[in-house]
Amino acid sequence: MKKFILFFLVCSISFAQKKTIEQRVDSVLALMTLDEKVGQLVQYSGGWATGTETEKSNEGSDALILKGKVGSFLNVVGAEATKKMQKIAVEQSRLKIPLIFGLDVIHGFRATFPIPLAEASSWNPALVEKSARWQAIEASSAGIHWTFNPMVDIARDPRWGRIMEGSGEDPYLGSLMAVARVKGYQGNDLSANNTIAACIKHFAGYGGAEGGRDYNTVDFSERTFREVYLRPFKAAVEAGAATLMASFNEIGGVPSSANKFLLTKILRGEWKFDGFVVSDWNSIGELIPHGVAKDLKHAGELAIKAGLDMDMEANSYYNHLADLVKEGKVSPQILDESVRRVLRIKFRLGLFDDPYKYCDVEREKKSIMSKEIIQATLQSARESIVLLKNENKFLPLKKDLKKIAVVGPLANSKDNPLGGWDQQGNPKNVVTVLDGIKNKLGENTEINYEEGCTIEGNEKDGFGKAINLVKTSDIAIVVVGESRNMSGEASSRATLDLPGVQESFVEEIQKTGRPVIVILMNGRPLTITWIQQNVSAVIESWYLGIQTGNAIADVLFGDYNPSGKLPVTFPRYVGQVPIYYNHKNTGRPYDPKNHYTSYYMDLENTPLYPFGYGLSYTTFSYSDIFLSKNKIKKDESLTVSVEVKNSGTQDGTEVVQLYIRDLVGSVTRPVKELKDFTKIFLKAGESKKVEFTITPEKLKFYDINMNFVVEPGDFKVFVGTNSVDVKEALFTVVD
Ligand code: BGC
Repeated sequence: MKKFILFFLVCSISFAQKKTIEQRVDSVLALMTLDEKVGQLVQYSGGWATGTETEKSNEGSDALILKGKVGSFLNVVGAEATKKMQKIAVEQSRLKIPLIFGLDVIHGFRATFPIPLAEASSWNPALVEKSARWQAIEASSAGIHWTFNPMVDIARDPRWGRIMEGSGEDPYLGSLMAVARVKGYQGNDLSANNTIAACIKHFAGYGGAEGGRDYNTVDFSERTFREVYLRPFKAAVEAGAATLMASFNEIGGVPSSANKFLLTKILRGEWKFDGFVVSDWNSIGELIPHGVAKDLKHAGELAIKAGLDMDMEANSYYNHLADLVKEGKVSPQILDESVRRVLRIKFRLGLFDDPYKYCDVEREKKSIMSKEIIQATLQSARESIVLLKNENKFLPLKKDLKKIAVVGPLANSKDNPLGGWDQQGNPKNVVTVLDGIKNKLGENTEINYEEGCTIEGNEKDGFGKAINLVKTSDIAIVVVGESRNMSGEASSRATLDLPGVQESFVEEIQKTGRPVIVILMNGRPLTITWIQQNVSAVIESWYLGIQTGNAIADVLFGDYNPSGKLPVTFPRYVGQVPIYYNHKNTGRPYDPKNHYTSYYMDLENTPLYPFGYGLSYTTFSYSDIFLSKNKIKKDESLTVSVEVKNSGTQDGTEVVQLYIRDLVGSVTRPVKELKDFTKIFLKAGESKKVEFTITPEKLKFYDINMNFVVEPGDFKVFVGTNSVDVKEALFTVVD
């Protein structure tokens, strides 16, 4: 009888369409035992597991689900596999609460898109949103409800390998990309069967790791933290991101997973976030080596009290949370609030209404690697390419070349173009650079390949064959860079040079005197100063995913005119790092006539390529800036306009960028800050007027008292093709 009543209650909750989600959440909560509540806050990996082995549950997944001891899995993939587990949860467990399946869908599920840093080079949030939409369509068909993405960490240090997972160094561009991805994954209706919950990560400051070494200490002022590192998170929360992941690092002495200031005061208090927070992998367990928790139980207490709702793989909540509540160390209210947040997202995803809607094998077959998604990866790949150098209009190449040498360790690589975090990506599906060129030119051109050297090895034995091939060819296309596991998690580097003997390889190829094009494939800015100085044409392709070769061939042979712009500064030498365009002026800005100014004795201050930089096959000229007013009040806006002309002979797309500088503030301000941009297409010879509005919001910053305000005074406004080549004008804000 008791069982029957319970079943009736749960059914009536599940089907009570008229009730609000909050009422439904509360109704479920009211039925839950302490252990069932804890269960909702436990997440295990279905595939492989690390974490603290001694505390690991020795029950199998099925038993855990049956007893309601786990609320979520990660790394379980496929409509069938997820259905099998979901069935136990919703048909056999006491309360029939559905599981939520999470996965790192970072730049694709099976159809691999360009890595996020590459996509950010498109400066096209609409494209990035579409790409995330496609990723959600594919992943949701394979049983995935939730992606641990977007990674919105700002990174000013290319030594940090995880720079490839984010959108680069700038908080404005980073915010737009974060919002685009959240919207793409979540769509307009989170309960639709082809949308998935986003998880913004890693909260927070993770990209500021000292020395660029992954997991390392982070420490900067609250002002920098809020203005730079927190901005994409805030924007993504405002865009409705369903969940958030706490980071591994400490900030200002407090690890994020125990950081109440972050997880409660800022996130829930200031930003009103009502989704849930998941830990990073075993990040609760890591509170012990961080030195703030004496054991795993203590770690769990700190984490849940700070506002961390779900324990990924640390086994802390699983083993200790119930006891912490029974002993009065954690209040039942805190526990309930965390459970409420998890249930809320499960309701929003519609899992209580139809727990199997992501488990349709037929849909899965149709959605995975569909023609449309492959086409979308190609478009994304083309727009992600950045042309770094093109001396004397060397590119695009003519299609009637007789003999082409394609050389270098990445020229015919099938797995590296997938990049790190490729999820279910399959090298089989990758079009290599060599294949792409062959696809483009067909039988009339002889296309030969030589590897020349490996990516990291020191052997030069292969140089000879490659050099001979180049000597007898019309042109050499040299593909060099990093292997894909040299960036991503735990893949920091202390040097930024091309690994192994690749640079000497390029030098030897260059010595043949044949025309040379270098294509870079890498997950971070590299110090390619020699190449920039000596080779006529250089293309940054990052890792472009499955359509790599076709996209690159489109650019090489002029079927696509490149329009990508760097979302991150390229240093000349690793010693310049951290180097970023929106730096401060200092009290002694560099003056070549004065020794006692801020500079290096052995290197210039300027980067190899500045933020926002990227060439096109055409050229664009900018008129002077026209301002609608020279003086505005603090609450007024003004418009900035320029005429941009395609002054070359080919149609092309330009990213017009607007920066400002607040000349005198109560605190120091960056020398330039990106505030707006637009991507416009211009036919050869065509001109367009581009207009931007500077609103008070764009002028605000954290003043000396940490109030977010506009301060009266003079501002410079810059408009141009990158963060250095700009026109400028001046306006004044009055009280
Ligand atoms: C990474 C996260 C990722 C998680 C789950 C961690 O090691 O830091 O970014 O989402 O693993 O795979």
